[in-house]
Amino acid sequence: MGKRIIVTGGSGKAGQHIIQYLLDQGHDILNLDLVPLPAPLSDRVHTMRVDLTDAGQAYSAFGSHFHLTEPFREPLGLLPDAVIHLASYARNMLVPDTETFRCNTTSQYNVIEAASRLGIKKIVLASSVSVYGIAYAEGDVEYPSFPVDEEIDVNPMDTYAISKMCGERVARGYARRYGSDIYVLRIGRIVSPEEYKEEMFDSYVKKPDGWAAHGWSYIDSRDLGQICDLAVQKAGLGFQVFNAVNDEITNYESSTTEFLKRVFPNTPFTREMGPREAPLANKKIRELLGFRQNHPWQKYYE
Ligand SMILES: NC(=O)c1ccc[n+]([C@@H]2O[C@H](COP(=O)([O-])OP(=O)(O)OC[C@H]3O[C@@H](n4cnc5c(N)ncnc54)[C@H](O)[C@@H]3O)[C@@H](O)[C@H]2O)c1
Repeated sequence: MGKRIIVTGGSGKAGQHIIQYLLDQGHDILNLDLVPLPAPLSDRVHTMRVDLTDAGQAYSAFGSHFHLTEPFREPLGLLPDAVIHLASYARNMLVPDTETFRCNTTSQYNVIEAASRLGIKKIVLASSVSVYGIAYAEGDVEYPSFPVDEEIDVNPMDTYAISKMCGERVARGYARRYGSDIYVLRIGRIVSPEEYKEEMFDSYVKKPDGWAAHGWSYIDSRDLGQICDLAVQKAGLGFQVFNAVNDEITNYESSTTEFLKRVFPNTPFTREMGPREAPLANKKIRELLGFRQNHPWQKYYE
């Protein structure tokens, strides 16, 4: 049966694909964002303009109707089944670091607090693989070990990744306090369908040595939709952190292990890796949420 799901930041790049996927699964969605959803999604999903850095707005919006009708007729007084929190400054240098930190940490806190106190039992939180500390490091930094899984000690030095780490810590504490499910998604570089034909992906394939920052891994925006659906459907895992990435390395190397040994000769391996396994490992999300990718990059890259 379809669930009632609030998506924050749904008007953005990831949000539009996630909302489309969730609608296709029969869910009912309310989008909370500073800006509108483009058509045709806007015909099916109401966007409420909300600044999530304001706690009052987050509380009020979580108790909102999903559809604007006259009069309000949907089953009244219901809480959403889940909140998927995507709203964020999605990288460094969009605004000064102080504003990235203020906005990202405050909105993550407000969302987790409001949802928890209102009794919403499922929160899915968008974190980033940039917490592994390579993407926005000051200079070249090595991964501590391969594969890069959720067990690795994370210690990023940049403001965006640190703001995501703060959200992960709030999530962990609140899941414990409220006995709720809060699943953190460490999302890889999101690739939307048109991007397989663009310069970045071509460079992933043709100049792979230069792509440590993205961990030679990616997440297809539609597969990210599947992951959000699985995260909403699954219950009882408490606090969890998942790498949200596709299965395979983003180049034609025949052995991930040999490739990584060549580009990072000093980095140890903690287990044997599959022949073309993505260096940012998705083993956990496959095993616990049952993720099965539908959009391997080779299907679209020309
Ligand atoms: N794009 C990527 O490759 C990538 C990779 C890893 C993680 N992520 C994370 O995934 C999430 C979505 O990323 P995206 O690429 O879709 O970002 P995006 O910038 O395209 O969309 C973010 C949305 O959040 C909204 N927003 C920002 N601040 C807000 C606030 N205070 N209140 C309400 N809405 C607000 C924006 O208006 C925007 O529509 C983010 O949390 C980002 O950090 C993205």
